[in-house]
Amino acid sequence: MQLKHLEPFRLSLEKLKVVSTRLRKDMIRGLGKHTHHRAAVKMLPTFVRATPDGTEKGDFLALDLGGTNFRVLHVRVMEEEQKMVKMDSQLCAIPQEIMLGTGEQLFDHIAACLSEFLDSQNLKGQTLPMGFTFSFPCEQKEIDKSILIRWTKGFNCSGVEGEDVVKLLKEAIHRRGDYDISSVAMVNDTVGTMMSCGYRDQTCEIGMIIGTGTNACYMEEMKNVKRVEGEDGQMCINTEWGGFGDDGSLEDILTEFDKVVDRTSINPGVHTFEKMISGMYLGEIVRLVLMKLTEKKLLFKGEVSEALRTKETFETKFISMIEDGLENAKKILTELGLTWDLVDARVVRLVCETISSRSARLCAAALATIVDRIRVNRGLPHLKTTVGVDGTVYKKHPNDELQKAMHFLTPDCKIKFLVSEDGSGKGAAMVTAVAQRLALQSRLLEESDGEEDEEEKVRS
Ligand code: BGC
Repeated sequence: MQLKHLEPFRLSLEKLKVVSTRLRKDMIRGLGKHTHHRAAVKMLPTFVRATPDGTEKGDFLALDLGGTNFRVLHVRVMEEEQKMVKMDSQLCAIPQEIMLGTGEQLFDHIAACLSEFLDSQNLKGQTLPMGFTFSFPCEQKEIDKSILIRWTKGFNCSGVEGEDVVKLLKEAIHRRGDYDISSVAMVNDTVGTMMSCGYRDQTCEIGMIIGTGTNACYMEEMKNVKRVEGEDGQMCINTEWGGFGDDGSLEDILTEFDKVVDRTSINPGVHTFEKMISGMYLGEIVRLVLMKLTEKKLLFKGEVSEALRTKETFETKFISMIEDGLENAKKILTELGLTWDLVDARVVRLVCETISSRSARLCAAALATIVDRIRVNRGLPHLKTTVGVDGTVYKKHPNDELQKAMHFLTPDCKIKFLVSEDGSGKGAAMVTAVAQRLALQSRLLEESDGEEDEEEKVRS
């Protein structure tokens, strides 16, 4: 079945190579001291300098904000069994009026939820180390100082952009005055995913999310991280690849439908790549294509239903359901008030497959760019590595399209995908645990250096 309206969504493997080359250049721009401020791909230092080595242990609190819910978790890292156990957790919905309200309202809501959890766990007297997974682009100054660059994914609380999120959280807790917290390690969800997968598989050095939003992080050589002092070792970089194309570099592959999605979003002009890939937008792209085909009388005998005409009524989860089988397609079309025949149902399925396959192929192009960068950084002819992955779009779709494209784009790399279980929550605990281990190691090193100096003095 050929439909000319679907053609612009079909990206050849050669085109994906071109996209990957553009991203490679943008990543270098994002890392550069003098080019960073203009770069569409922000390449943000995370101050996470090591992945787990399996000796981490202890009890931690983890906060997780990134979608429509906020979660608090009590996590125990058990060295003997090499596992992280969620002791307990609590979920608080974030109603839309808070997502679009003031920053103060948002952080008061978070502080109230945390208070309730600490009460229920009898933890208020203790100050457990805390990790905060905050899944938005942040300029980190240190592990516990994190300035929000901009909101994404449907959030738009006033007075938070340009501010330190840790400070806003602490202020909200002080306003309550019924408990206190110690230091907070700030973590992007990609980093949480990489770190929690990294505890199970220590070759994991990339984290990728394809969910409501999309993004990836990876371990970069410090000598290439020009905005942070120091040349030795590595640092995890949060690429914020969702912003790829914000400078117009993807103009040739944007379809008329992508442009409408962007124009009608709450953040027009930003996160261009994310809007072609992630769960927040895929359903809407499909709806717009179906509308167009109906207007052209290629679907539903030219009759649009009220539901199909309404923004965001075609949910992203319908796409994977329809890909799963024609029976689902028929049910969903009926629920959307459409009068369909078998050909309509097949066309709708084709539209869903085309949009989800473009999403997978674009992700592959971006991931291949990172994997190959790691290979080149290390001067290796071949690289074997593991990618920790999370997000409903990844989990709900067959991933052969992504893997096939990766195979073509990075023939020199062997990649294992590890699906994260609760990575963005547990990962924050792991980041905190690794930071504690590194601090302990450097204390021990200083002490032994001190002892050597004393021995030296005694000898002379
Ligand atoms: C945010 C990223 C986040 C990604 C996945 C994007 O909208 O900018 O920080 O990692 O969503 O949740």
